[in-house]
Amino acid sequence: MGGSGSNAAALHVPVLAERIVELLAPALSEPRSVYVDGTLGMGGHSELILQSCPNATVVGIDRDPAALRLAGERLAAYGSRVRLHHATYHELPEVLADEGLTSVQAICLDLGLSSLQIDSVERGFAYATDAPLDMRMNSEQSLTAADIVNSWSESELARILRVHGEERFAARIAGAIVKARADQEFTTSAQLVAVIADAIPMAARHSGGHPAKRSFQALRIAVNDEIASLSAVLPAALQALAPGGRLAVLAYHSGEDRLVKRAFADATSDRVPAGVPEVPAGYAAEYRLLTRGAERPNPAEIQTNPRAASARLRALVRHQEVVR
Ligand SMILES: C[S@@+](CC[C@H](N)C(=O)[O-])C[C@H]1O[C@@H](n2cnc3c(N)ncnc32)[C@H](O)[C@@H]1O
Repeated sequence: MGGSGSNAAALHVPVLAERIVELLAPALSEPRSVYVDGTLGMGGHSELILQSCPNATVVGIDRDPAALRLAGERLAAYGSRVRLHHATYHELPEVLADEGLTSVQAICLDLGLSSLQIDSVERGFAYATDAPLDMRMNSEQSLTAADIVNSWSESELARILRVHGEERFAARIAGAIVKARADQEFTTSAQLVAVIADAIPMAARHSGGHPAKRSFQALRIAVNDEIASLSAVLPAALQALAPGGRLAVLAYHSGEDRLVKRAFADATSDRVPAGVPEVPAGYAAEYRLLTRGAERPNPAEIQTNPRAASARLRALVRHQEVVR
């Protein structure tokens, strides 16, 4: 059933898919249970849930209209078990209100880009191919990578390169961008790659992967305001879980994973006031971790799907009852 032969299935291989189903399925056995896929992408994780959990319906969210169209075709065979929303995942409360739901049984967030987005050259995510400097996940948004590169201040550019790209030469690259744009506006990725490569000292240019890799990651995160969106969805997702509900998050770089790790640690820790020997009523953690540390794909998965290499999976469950 579904679209094993469909376009979408061929465009993105879901990461740690079996493990995610194993973690979330126990919450999806009852009739009318609801799974929210906050990053529907090509619908790979959603389709597996639909196949493995016959009582579950899927509420799928993506900010990319192209993803929604392709995943919609792939999942059409599941009829009314699938409802799709064009939204950013931090709008989860609005999407649930729209669906008439106050809580759900499982949520998955598979962060970052799909292979469809990376491989669509004209969208400008890849540094290895010349393309317009775009990088918008949502083609209806106005801010593009070109806008940032051509108009943000040198200090703001340096900040995003440092914070979102962990780029050690952030200040030099930002300075070089500002100098170059005084002569000519940036319109293509090749122009930017050349300026970045020139700004990195020769000795460091060939270490640590492609010289533009970290800067492109930083720009993409800034264009799509990814950190703010993730910071907002984590508390919203925790709040939306019904008792016994489960949340799984797949992160692909350390900035994302740090936020997930911290939110999960807070949610699963008792709030014991200093000096109090026992956890008083109402102060016990409402959630429990399902993963020990971050789980990584095994070498066999990375071999067949190299994009899985940086994935880190964390999951938790909301207790059935308020503890004590
Ligand atoms: C890694 S892909 C998900 C792939 C999907 N799990 C599958 O199996 O096909 C991430 C998807 O999430 C979407 N996305 C990323 N950030 C988002 C956000 N803040 N709100 C909504 N969708 C987002 C992207 O547009 C992309 O389609």
